[in-house]
Amino acid sequence: MFRSSTFSINNLSAAKISGRIINVSPILFQRATKQSPSFTRRIATSVMTDQKTEQKTLIHADENTNPKTLELLNKQAKYTINTYNRPPIVLTKGKGCWVYDLADRKFLDFSAGIAVNALGHADAELASVIADQATKLIHLSNLYHNEYAGELAELLVNITKEGGGFDAARVFFSNSGTEANEGALKFARKWGKLVNNGGKEKYGVVSFNNAFHGRTMGALAATPSPKYQAPFSPLVPGFIHSIYNDIEKIPEVVNENTCAVIVEPIQGEGGVWVANVDFLEALRKRCNEVNALLIYDEIQCGLGRTGKLWAHQHLPKSCHPDILTLAKPLANGFPIGAIITTERVADIIKVGDHGTTFGGNPLACRAALSVVRRINSPELLSNVNSVGSYLFNELQRLASKYPSLITTVRGKGLILGVQFSVDPTPLVALARERGLLIITASNQTVRIIPPLILKKEEAQHGVKIIEEIIDIFDKQHKN
Ligand SMILES: Cc1ncc(COP(=O)(O)O)c(C=O)c1O
Repeated sequence: MFRSSTFSINNLSAAKISGRIINVSPILFQRATKQSPSFTRRIATSVMTDQKTEQKTLIHADENTNPKTLELLNKQAKYTINTYNRPPIVLTKGKGCWVYDLADRKFLDFSAGIAVNALGHADAELASVIADQATKLIHLSNLYHNEYAGELAELLVNITKEGGGFDAARVFFSNSGTEANEGALKFARKWGKLVNNGGKEKYGVVSFNNAFHGRTMGALAATPSPKYQAPFSPLVPGFIHSIYNDIEKIPEVVNENTCAVIVEPIQGEGGVWVANVDFLEALRKRCNEVNALLIYDEIQCGLGRTGKLWAHQHLPKSCHPDILTLAKPLANGFPIGAIITTERVADIIKVGDHGTTFGGNPLACRAALSVVRRINSPELLSNVNSVGSYLFNELQRLASKYPSLITTVRGKGLILGVQFSVDPTPLVALARERGLLIITASNQTVRIIPPLILKKEEAQHGVKIIEEIIDIFDKQHKN
């Protein structure tokens, strides 16, 4: 175990860890360790208060890290384009719902690589599938057929229909969620061109506040958040946004010029907001009236996360989409995304309309076949429901215990959001320094999106830490 004897707070240019001084320039240290001014304030505050002794006894505290960590961060900071605030830990391996850092400290992972590692980390079965396929064929391009892309498409279509999902017919494979949405938006634009709208243009796309659909130019245009969009304007034209769950606005915003509406049945990044059935039903009805396509982005909320294969399986047929986009857990972390469409949408897409070099490669598709079969098992889905209910009830209990701090608990299955009355960002570090990884979302929300294999005892362990840190946070706010 490594212990820091001193940790320079006032002068961030050096950190003395395990008796060694590591020189880090203030800027690099800032970049390498915390990248946000709030970190400095947080550490400084914690040192100035009675938390000083506690920090030293917490083995997961950032200051009690391995000397190699700072060396590595310092080195990497010089070469990496920094677009993320990352904590000063380096994770090296995982097992199930746990990950380990360079100092071999164990963290319970309630983030799952942002709703990706549904089957947890280092799953032995998936590792052997990937290893076996890597010895055969990793990549071919779509210029040739492989054994697995078609089989995966067939599986996705069949289980969607059998499970009471939308009228799925055909699949296009991408490499990420953003790319799946980008492709879906292109399909919709083509739809708009082919629909006879009395000679008028039909390329409008409607999305909603708090949505997140990705960072490429089309997906970004559908993500109406100034912090994501402003630096990259001008955006792709034709995109407008409305208010999530606002039925009254639908007839005005979804009109004859609209080719598609894109919506998350449960918004993840926006703060875990669940769409009302009436709202989705009204969207479906209006899309039918104006001959626009309805796209459900289930990149975060799909593939078992809500306790059914798809979030829209909780909804009546009268809400179902024309296009479904998916990614994140599809191959449990090996990059792959997909667009699933109905037959009438697939019919308009012709050879040469869209493409990708890596999409549908045999390694990703074979991995996804194995993952999807396991996610779609009654045992796993029932685990999501039971552990999800346990967590939801416990978070509700905490909401009643800390009414001035917690305003709402939202979500379904293992996509849960706890909204706070103040910025909950400090909770992330408080949790990590007690061995729990949690993340935030917009609207002052802490997001709980663990692996779907999370056991009840692990959930209990996580709740214990969450209760402890909320208590600390509550006291800080009362002082
Ligand atoms: C709902 C939703 N759509 C799209 C994306 C973008 O997916 P990716 O990061 O795989 O490109 C995300 C990612 O968080 C998401 O949550």
